[in-house]
Amino acid sequence: MDGNTFSPLRFSGEALELLDQTLLPHEERWQRCHRPEQVAEAIRRLAVRGAPQIGVAAAYGLALAFAPGPVLADLETHFEATVELLGSTRPTAVNLRWALERGRIVFAARPSPADRAATFEWLVRWAQELHAADVATNRRMAEHGATLFPPNARVLTHCNTGALATAGIGTALGVIAEAFHQGKVAEVFADETRPLLQGARLTTWELGRLGIPHRLLADSAAATALARGMVDLVIVGADRIARNGDAANKIGTYPLAVLAARHGVPFYIAAPCSTVDPATPNGAAIPIEERAEEEVTSLFGHPVAPPGTRAFNPAFDVTPAELIAGIVTEEGVVRAPYDLTYNNPSRTA
Ligand code: MRU
Repeated sequence: MDGNTFSPLRFSGEALELLDQTLLPHEERWQRCHRPEQVAEAIRRLAVRGAPQIGVAAAYGLALAFAPGPVLADLETHFEATVELLGSTRPTAVNLRWALERGRIVFAARPSPADRAATFEWLVRWAQELHAADVATNRRMAEHGATLFPPNARVLTHCNTGALATAGIGTALGVIAEAFHQGKVAEVFADETRPLLQGARLTTWELGRLGIPHRLLADSAAATALARGMVDLVIVGADRIARNGDAANKIGTYPLAVLAARHGVPFYIAAPCSTVDPATPNGAAIPIEERAEEEVTSLFGHPVAPPGTRAFNPAFDVTPAELIAGIVTEEGVVRAPYDLTYNNPSRTA
């Protein structure tokens, strides 16, 4: 597979096929989802993950609600129940809500309201358009973001924000890949990203495929890398950006922003406009997903703490806008003071 065209998500005509990211990098196994319940379960357990990709998967999930199957009493009620099901999977990534709200508008505009087969085809076509739009969005974001890189940049990133997290080349990792393509990247430092190791398992896998020089570091080693002057810029993704620019991203992002400020290193966010939520005024209003305690007390199912140890496991943290040097979107690089009004579901196809 070509690193630039690789996609972990494809639609076969009757099922959504997902590369199960919980098994990477050691096993490449595809999961076929025929029903929205299977898509919801894949999102919940992080088989499919990353804010933009969750949105695209949810769009296909809405379509699958109308795939051939048992008779549906009422299409509208069934649609709303599916929105509820998919929307309940992960609370922080606003791309999910954005896709579902957009889906509601598209569903209401279907040409043959009582025809289930036509509704299925109508929603599949829309999901495919959303999918393609994310690919184009990623590319534009990458071009804008690469302008921020100095020559021979040494870059630090967190979590996984590449092709595995979107439908295209990625958000922050897409920017890094484009900057590398332009000859501007000397080395990437990838945080391992405890507790689920998206950096260690997924980002290194993608960087290797792209041929970008990289080193993996324990999250707690980032301070030393920054203090030793080994990093020129930090760039990460986001799961929701509030109107004032406060940004939620994978747990461990906020400490990086504090460290970057302490060491005079610019800290950037790369995210599509669909990650901006103008209805959320600031970071305090962003719902933060808390996940199972076992994700912290165990590693790959093996306990690492004494039996009965309690854990605190927020999946995301919030970086205040004042620590963000710029937000890269498909529309360009935005800088403080932020007053972000993107993300109207009725705007984009
Ligand atoms: O819990 P995850 O793995 O879905 O978290 C992903 C992130 O935090 C990414 O940085 C974020 O979704 C933006 S990048 C596409």
